[in-house]
Parts: sequence; structure tokens; C-alpha cells
Amino acid sequence: MIEARGLSKRYGDFVAVDDVTFKVGSGEVVGFLGPNGAGKTTTMRMLTGFLPPTDGTALIAGHDVFGEAQAARRAVGYLPETPPLYPEMDVQGYLKYVATIQDVPRSERAPAIDRAVERCGLGEVRRRLIGALSKGFRQRVGLAGAIVHTPPVLILDEPTVGLDPIQIQEIRSLIKELGGVGDHAVILSTHILAEVEAICDRVILIHRGRKVEDAPLADLTAGGRKLEELFARETSRDVAAPEAPAQAEGSA
Ligand SMILES: Nc1ncnc2c1ncn2[C@@H]1O[C@H](COP(=O)(O)OP(=O)(O)O)[C@@H](O)[C@H]1O
Ligand SMILES: [Mg+2]
Repeated sequence: MIEARGLSKRYGDFVAVDDVTFKVGSGEVVGFLGPNGAGKTTTMRMLTGFLPPTDGTALIAGHDVFGEAQAARRAVGYLPETPPLYPEMDVQGYLKYVATIQDVPRSERAPAIDRAVERCGLGEVRRRLIGALSKGFRQRVGLAGAIVHTPPVLILDEPTVGLDPIQIQEIRSLIKELGGVGDHAVILSTHILAEVEAICDRVILIHRGRKVEDAPLADLTAGGRKLEELFARETSRDVAAPEAPAQAEGSA
């Protein structure tokens, strides 16, 4: 459903994303982990076709995000790091606008908006101005915008950042619900390990632009191992000596 093939992004001499390859299959919720600056947002922007890679390709539901941009765009819902919400629009108007630019046919727009409003718990605020909403509700509006055209693929960039604990719980269960629907695939970036343990089936860890781990959560936490330890070990490695054996076997 989501495929990165050798994705790389360079800014001058700086390599933000370095030859990243992975697949996310139908029914999976994958946590895309890494410290700040690891390259999560850059990778997600390439996966969604917002940023051209320096090398490699990205496919959404089998469509090349640049070669078949329209088909790829229809298949993906993207919650960017900073959702482009318009504070002067009301929730309903915003979702109508998003449904229109996502090519939802006119006759299907009203039911599509109703569905997104209902799924994201926005009923009580649908006539409110976005600028007047709390951060938690604005995040839900961003999610509603990402799912209004019922895409099978969701790419969510730090969906719970800046929320309070209750809002975090609500957004997490919403993501779990959305991802749990049969033929859906979700990848979400975060640096909160508890979030991954709460909602993800698999973990992809990147550090300094390179993929350093890709495994089912159950394998990574087998035998009571802590995700924190994996994270600390993988992200403290010097990139110049990535295979240092003393560190690679540090967890036993
Ligand atoms: N437009 C840009 N120009 C130069 N460097 C950039 C640009 N965008 C991102 N970077 C750098 O690429 C690295 C990865 O950034 P980012 O993908 O935002 O990381 P993350 O989302 O994991 O925190 C960072 O070091 C960031 O400063
Ligand atoms: Mg980021």
C-alpha cells in the first residue's frame, strides 16, 4: 500500500534522507520513529508527493507519486506536521473545501463530510471557526481533512504533538480505529515510544536519514525488552561506525 524505494533527499552536501526502502502493507499501522531531525517529515513529504526526492521512488497503492500523481493523491490522506488549516473558515466549510480539491464528486461531498465529522467527533463544532478551536479539535479537523475522501492510505506526521493527555488518548483511538479497517495502511511519525506501543504493529526507526530498524513491535519488545533501549542504542550510534559490534549486541 505504501512503498519507499531507495528514497533519498539531499540539500547541498547535507543528506536529510539516505536510501530509505520499506513497504507498509494492507492492515498495518506502522510507527515511523526517530529523534528530531532524523528525516521523518522529509520522508513523509516524499511519500505523499509534496517533495521530489533526489533519488528513489515512492508508491501509494501501486501508483508512483510523481508519475501517477493524481491516482496516488486520491489514495492517500496526509496529515502534515503543520496542517494548513484556515482559521477564518468553519469546520464544515473547510472540509467541503478539502473534499473539493480531493475530487470528491459533488453529489458525494455532503455524505463524505458527515462521515468525517462523525468519525473525528466534530459534530458539536462543525459550525465553529477553526481559529476558535482548541489545539485538540484543530488536530481532529486536520485528521478529518485527511480522511474526507476515504483514502486507503494514511500518512500522519506527529499526529499527537502538542496535545494534552486526554486529547492524545482520543486521537490515538481514532487512529487505531482508522487503521483497523481491513484494507487500510497507516504510517505515523512520532518520537513518543509509548505511542508506538499503544497503536502500532510495526516499527521503522530512522536515524540521521538512514533506516536502522524495521521489525514487528512484538519482536522488538519480546522477552520484556524495552523500546526505549532499542531507541537509545540505535540513535546513539556514531554514523561513521554503524556496525560497532559492542553496541549491536548490547541488549542481551
Ligand atoms: N528545506 C531544507 N533545507 C535544508 N535542510 C533541511 C530542509 N528540510 C529539512 N532539512 C533538514 O533535514 C533533516 C531532517 O529533517 P526532518 O525530516 O524535518 O526531520 P524529523 O521530521 O525527523 O524531525 C534536518 O536536519 C533538517 O534540518
Ligand atoms: Mg518532523
